[in-house]
Amino acid sequence: MKKLLLLIVSVLLFVETIQAEHIRLSTKGSTLLITATHGKSPRFRYFGARLNDVDNPFDAGIAFNEALYPEFGAQCAREMAIQATHPDGNQSLELVVESVERRSGNGAHITAIHTKDKHYPFYVTVFYKTYDDCEVIETWTEMRHTEKRPVTLYRFASAFLPIRRGTDNWISHFHGSWGAEGYLEEEPLIGGMKVIRNKDGVRNTQTDNPSFMYSLDGKPQELSGRVIGGTLAWGGNYRIAFANDNSNLTRIFVGINEEQSHYILEPKEVFTTPVFAFTYSNEGKSGVSRNIHRWARLHRLNHGTALRPILLNSWEGVYFKVNQEVMDQMMRDFADLGGELFVMDDGWFGDKYPRNNGKTSLGDWMVCKEKLPKGIEGLIGSAKSHGIKFGIWIEPEMTNTKSELFEKYPDWVIQQPYREMKTGRGGTQLVLDLSNPAVQEFVFKVVDNLMTKHPEIAYIKWDDNMTLVNYGSTYLPAEKQSHLYIEYHRGMDKVLRRIHEKYPNLIMQSCASGGGRVNYGVLPYYDEFWTSDNTDALQRVYMQWSISNFYPSNAMAAHVSAHKNHQSKRITPLKFRFDVAMMGRLGMELQPKDMSEKDKTFARQAIATYKQIRPVVQQGDLYRIMSPFEKTGYASLMYVTPEKERAVFFVYKMEHFVRQRCPIFRMAGLDPQKRYKLTELNVSGKAIRQSGKIFTGEYLMNSGLDIELNTEYASRVLSVEAVE
Ligand code: GLA
Repeated sequence: MKKLLLLIVSVLLFVETIQAEHIRLSTKGSTLLITATHGKSPRFRYFGARLNDVDNPFDAGIAFNEALYPEFGAQCAREMAIQATHPDGNQSLELVVESVERRSGNGAHITAIHTKDKHYPFYVTVFYKTYDDCEVIETWTEMRHTEKRPVTLYRFASAFLPIRRGTDNWISHFHGSWGAEGYLEEEPLIGGMKVIRNKDGVRNTQTDNPSFMYSLDGKPQELSGRVIGGTLAWGGNYRIAFANDNSNLTRIFVGINEEQSHYILEPKEVFTTPVFAFTYSNEGKSGVSRNIHRWARLHRLNHGTALRPILLNSWEGVYFKVNQEVMDQMMRDFADLGGELFVMDDGWFGDKYPRNNGKTSLGDWMVCKEKLPKGIEGLIGSAKSHGIKFGIWIEPEMTNTKSELFEKYPDWVIQQPYREMKTGRGGTQLVLDLSNPAVQEFVFKVVDNLMTKHPEIAYIKWDDNMTLVNYGSTYLPAEKQSHLYIEYHRGMDKVLRRIHEKYPNLIMQSCASGGGRVNYGVLPYYDEFWTSDNTDALQRVYMQWSISNFYPSNAMAAHVSAHKNHQSKRITPLKFRFDVAMMGRLGMELQPKDMSEKDKTFARQAIATYKQIRPVVQQGDLYRIMSPFEKTGYASLMYVTPEKERAVFFVYKMEHFVRQRCPIFRMAGLDPQKRYKLTELNVSGKAIRQSGKIFTGEYLMNSGLDIELNTEYASRVLSVEAVE
């Protein structure tokens, strides 16, 4: 109680009402400038490189004059951040500043610009949050009213971000599909509108990721140039629109995709938008990535600063053919390689309908006794006897028409009256209606029951293999059917929060048919995501490169899979597969008993090596250097500790031709004054000539190394350690 009082007092001490008209919100490297005059429209003036106290941005002419949160009203022709229809049919708003408030505590500062409509009792507050320890600004918006009847919201952006255009601006974004999620796409931003959007309803990143970079100095570079990057922390449908008219500005609108989602806001109800997190860097795209990664690890990712265990996931090893003996054997073999955690994937559950394929059983989260007579206890016993931890796969938001759950609660699925149901995987899968509190309780209980009965479960792989179809809810009232896309994710958030609060140590993976759920809306509850169902090492270089733009390496699950890759059918050396997986959270996805003794020896060594470099890879600063997307035939990147004492450098050969020219590989992020010893890791055959040699940081970054890479799928990993 005393503690609570102290906390309240200390928080209150730091609340102030700001009188200044021009408000500067600064991080170490950036400034956001706002003008908020009482009774007037709040204005967005500038965002970019940090402004100093001497030079005046108004005199310089770089401060523009945009609405802070453009409303539909007097201004009709432009894109808008908010549009609300009042009970009397009036569709307009005119927001003016009421007050500005600033709260500080725990190294974070929140600035709230409170506005009110000039006529109606309709209120909008725009929030900005900065941190002392990172370069990211979070923004979100709250709206509420005290009108007599509900107000309908047709637009409700999380953020409006105007950027002063130069002569050559580019955007980088991430596009894909199953097996090729999140590929980096880059294009010059031309006049007109560019929209990145999603309407999956559930898996919001299988196609596009709600993240982008805006490069101000021509074609985006990894290590130089001014870049603004942002990501929407939301698990549902989104829309990011870049509006380029004939002015000097690009106006960026980011938020929930409002299509089919108009929102009936009751009097006094508060509608809070998801957070949009953005940052500025003058160190290129890699600089933006480092800013975002730091923010994620410190403030947004579950257990963000913790090191992740090395795991084996059973899926590609045995698919649905799960049983006690095979699980035990996989655990034993993996433990022998030095592995730390075993995850039993799909195929373990279903009593009346045993789960042998994708057609049945989702929802029936009881052990299939035929396959696992000793139950989960038996598996935990095996894991213990082999000295590793145990994890399990679930897909709790879903059901199959052939399941006990669906037989009992057919009204729990998302559905429309009068229509034949569209189904998903296996021709029988359906999505549960998470807007319904009874369903929320059920989904929570899936995890809660497992964890109550088996507190030793260390890890849960939470999957979701379906799009939201048959739009309609048996729970939501007729006039609020348009809330389903939003209420689904609010329901999901409630469930995840409960799990997180009750099981704070549980490690969770977010998976959705591979990389379909990689967003900062869910990552506060998940430690990591399954990057893609495609484990082909060559294609993974592209995917992991892309996803690393916004998501840190300790969240990026990267698994070494079988000899002939199951998705691409490509055959690559085990060394290449390890070298690629070791740039993220290393794991394996195969049947270890099918490996040759030679491969096992290599794997054992590589796993031991990963344990040594794990803190550098999982917590270091990422410098992407040579992009696979530049099609030079090579890709290179490195992780460097903040003190610049240790680094790990990776280089991959993406294609092989006779007389192909090999570039000189330069490093980045080191201390030019320091001397570093290079040691090649995961050596297969002969180590490169530079291994064991000492070079200055200056030399490694400016002159570089001629690294031998003259076979197909060649790769090298170098440990770079400062010496006295
Ligand atoms: C999805 C996941 C896979 C695996 C299967 C199991 O496809 O992405 O990793 O878990 O489901 O059915």
